[in-house]
Amino acid sequence: MSDPARSDPDAVREQYRDASNLDARFQLHERFSTNRYGWHPWVFDQLDLTPGRRVLEVGAGPGYLWQKNRARLPASCELVLSDLSLGMVGEARRILNADHRFRFAVADAQRLPFENSTFDAVIANHMLYHVPDRESALAEIRRVLRPGGRLYAATVGRNHLRELSALVTRFAPDWVSWAAAEGDPEAFVLENGADQVGRWFPRVELRRYEDELVVTEAGPLVAYVLSGSARSALDDERTRALAEYVSHEIARRGALRVTKDSGLFVAWQDAER
Ligand SMILES: C[S@@+](CC[C@H](N)C(=O)[O-])C[C@H]1O[C@@H](n2cnc3c(N)ncnc32)[C@H](O)[C@@H]1O
Repeated sequence: MSDPARSDPDAVREQYRDASNLDARFQLHERFSTNRYGWHPWVFDQLDLTPGRRVLEVGAGPGYLWQKNRARLPASCELVLSDLSLGMVGEARRILNADHRFRFAVADAQRLPFENSTFDAVIANHMLYHVPDRESALAEIRRVLRPGGRLYAATVGRNHLRELSALVTRFAPDWVSWAAAEGDPEAFVLENGADQVGRWFPRVELRRYEDELVVTEAGPLVAYVLSGSARSALDDERTRALAEYVSHEIARRGALRVTKDSGLFVAWQDAER
């Protein structure tokens, strides 16, 4: 789930003030992804969550990963769901608070308020690309992991949603597309993430999740577009034109197909420090 305003701190704060923008994007993926297994169950499959594990999620948002997988979580695991946004943490707490395994924290991944070697695993699901000082975040994640602990860091590839980006550019030519942001060598994408994570962790592995969007309704696709920074480049007239075009194309072709490219870096901390 990407947004063009990648690592501009003000834009990121505004974008994630609460869960509404993220929900619009989540809905499109939920309804129109061809891989019916689902991203969140797949991410859970990759985690080594045996009983007693202590887990930190940074940039956890409203806790989608746990809303989807709570029933599979061993009873004795302890999880801290953290996010920079008070609104996101409030939403995660509202949904998961009754479950004694979860605690919640407002925290910036660049300055984690936890002791050294506290966690067996840290999860950073589609969030490191928003962090301006990623080196600090990776150093902090490494610091709070115990020796032998693991980082799970998900991100997107440079081709992720490329058709959607082209579509928006057609109606808002002055919009700086996220494809441009992903072309930035400083971005955190599947193509360069292993190098970045590898500076802090001795072993890194990339696992890809195969998927695609086949969208058969204009409304959720337009809502997705308006949930991100393209909103400021689309006035009412442009939005109407975009919606009409999408409806017309869906009627003509049966569906709009959109490339997805997401994956997970699994990184191992040294067994001894
Ligand atoms: C794309 S959302 C992903 C949410 C969740 N991990 C998921 O996959 O559903 C990115 C999240 O990262 C958070 N975030 C952005 N910068 C952050 C930072 N420096 N430290 C902690 N969280 C941050 C945002 O508030 C937002 O909730």
